[in-house]
Formats: sequence, structure tokens, C-alpha cells
Amino acid sequence: MGVQQSRIRVDLSSQSARTPYLNSRLWLRETSKVHADASNFASGVSKREAYEQVLEQARALFVGQRNWVPELTQLDGSNLANAASLLWHCYHSLPNPSSAVNWAGFYVLDRTQQNQLILGPFMGKVACQTIAFGRGVCGKAAEEGKTVRVQDVDSFPGHIACDGDSQSEVVVPIVQNGKVMAIIDIDCAMKDGFDQEDQNALEELAALLSEACDF
Ligand code: SME
Repeated sequence: MGVQQSRIRVDLSSQSARTPYLNSRLWLRETSKVHADASNFASGVSKREAYEQVLEQARALFVGQRNWVPELTQLDGSNLANAASLLWHCYHSLPNPSSAVNWAGFYVLDRTQQNQLILGPFMGKVACQTIAFGRGVCGKAAEEGKTVRVQDVDSFPGHIACDGDSQSEVVVPIVQNGKVMAIIDIDCAMKDGFDQEDQNALEELAALLSEACDF
């Protein structure tokens, strides 16, 4: 049975209502099927716990799914789209500055234009569709193959302000066989939105996506 065809089980028992994360962990372990609870983060979780949930749910969701985005002829899910959802809900379950994240998503290598990124799955407002390597925070991370964490976008020369609300940003490359295939981009509407813990967790997610996806 395809992932999409599986029945979505909504369990509103008191246990699942109190601890959606625990419930979704059990559900995924039992069935390996997609469940909307994967995006539910219990209130009051620490950043470490929230990222653990992102990574654990991502690992489960990526089983048997190699597409970074669905082919036109396929109806099954996409790893980057689900990862964007997990990240968005993770940040919004946390206090500020994480809660002030206003964009979470991906740019991927443009197959039609060398050294260019093209907009991938994301959560947030519409954004620039293409970014050349070397341009902006995304282009710099793609060009250098290294994470770029910007505490104040006004102090980053060349920052591309897709959304004037963004105040800080972190961009993590997804590298496969030594080549940057995509980047994770997270924007925050507060300065100093991201610390080393965010960077470490996003780099772990990038490594997971590199293993899990056929770009
Ligand atoms: N600010 C990014 C552009 C992409 S958006 O933030 C979604 C940059 O400077 O590369």
C-alpha cells in the first residue's frame, strides 16, 4: 500500500492529546506510515527535544522515499516538503527567537542553469525563485559548501531581502558526493535568531537529507 493510500488515524484519546509527539513516535514505529502528528510538537519542549523530534520523524518519513519533490507522475510524498513542515512546526512550538521564524525551506540546484539555486519546498511567504551561487546568504553557503549563520542580516553585504521582516538567517548546504545539491534556509524575524545548537541540528538534518534523497 502506498504511503498516500494509508488511512490517517486520528487518535484523540487523552494520552495523544496531551503528548502528540509520543503518540506520533509510537504510531510511526508501529506502522511506518505518514501521520500528521509528526508535525505536532508538545508545548513546553526544549529546543533539543524539538530538534530530536524533527530528526526522528524525518528519518521515519524518508523510509522508502527517495524523491526530494514528487515527480509529476507520482502521487507520493516528498522529503523536502515534509522536512519543511517539520521545521516550521518545530520552531513555532518553541519560545522566541525560534518562534519568530518566518521562513523555513529549501533551494535546490537548478539543473537548467549552472551554479544557480532554484526555490524548493518551503513554509512561509513567497520568495525569490532563483539565486546565483555567491549571491546572498544562500548563494554564499552554496558556493562555499559551508553553513553561514547571520545574526543580523543588515550587517551581511549582499543579503537578499525576500521579506523585509527577516532579521537573521541560517543557511546549511546539503552535500552529496562532495557537491552542494541543495541548501536549507531558515529566516527569523528577530536578530540573533539562531545559535550553535540550531546549526548543529540543521547540519545533522542536512546529512540525513543527503543520504535520504535522490537529487
Ligand atoms: N535571504 C536569502 C534569500 C532567500 S530568502 O530569505 C527565502 C539570501 O540572502 O540568500
